[in-house]
Amino acid sequence: MQVLQAKQLQKSFQDGAQVTAVLKGIDMTVSEGEFVAITGASGAGKSTLVYQIGLLDVPTAGTVFVGDTDAASMSMRQKTSYRLETFGFVFQDYALLPEMRAWENVALPVLMRGTPLQSAKKQAVKALSRFGMADRINHTPSQLSGGESQRVSIARAIVHQPSVLFADEPTANLDGDRSRQVIDIFHELHRAGQTIVMVTHELEYAEEASRLIVLKDGVIEKDGRPKRSKQHAR
Ligand SMILES: Nc1ncnc2c1ncn2[C@@H]1O[C@H](COP(=O)(O)OP(=O)(O)OP(=O)(O)O)[C@@H](O)[C@H]1O
Ligand SMILES: [Mg+2]
Repeated sequence: MQVLQAKQLQKSFQDGAQVTAVLKGIDMTVSEGEFVAITGASGAGKSTLVYQIGLLDVPTAGTVFVGDTDAASMSMRQKTSYRLETFGFVFQDYALLPEMRAWENVALPVLMRGTPLQSAKKQAVKALSRFGMADRINHTPSQLSGGESQRVSIARAIVHQPSVLFADEPTANLDGDRSRQVIDIFHELHRAGQTIVMVTHELEYAEEASRLIVLKDGVIEKDGRPKRSKQHAR
């Protein structure tokens, strides 16, 4: 089943008279249960692509479908509630709320779905523990290292069991062991049926995904099953 589709997707940014074309006609479909890795040089448009298919931005041309729904037919409010219900995001810059403790940041998507505080806190602490952060739950982002903030943002992205997990460079600030740990958790989620769209510079991890998309200058240069893809028995 198709969970996401981009058709001739384009995105340009305008700053005064200067127009920068970033995405120049992307066609891609993500099916349920896929683990898609997106790689490509810095500036290729990877984060921009995630913003468009994650309903965080409005494309300049082309179409994005979420499920069978054309995103252009959805109101801002509908997009926001769809995002909250269906998507989890690990942002390249974490996007944690600075005045909130780690557990509060993670509990937020659960609270927004109407879960009572104590139960939301329990789920948040459980997700943080999964990433070795049990002893940091009361820290605010300014009291956390970059790698710790990254792990809080990953816990927040998965705590409400989203249908699609978007992760933009989720291991960028982690050391080798921590990176491996995060990628292994992604494989574990994938085996349990989680759909994942992950941007990464790390070829080793990209090649373990079920599908690898290479972006170059705003177009898809390659799209297929990587050689070292981990085959999951279903
Ligand atoms: N809001 C914006 N206004 C103008 N230009 C932008 C904007 N957002 C992105 N760009 C430009 O779009 C291009 C692609 O940016 P994007 O962040 O998608 O790249 P990326 O592939 O994610 O790179 P990286 O690997 O460095 O994260 C860059 O050249 C960037 O300068
Ligand atoms: Mg990026």
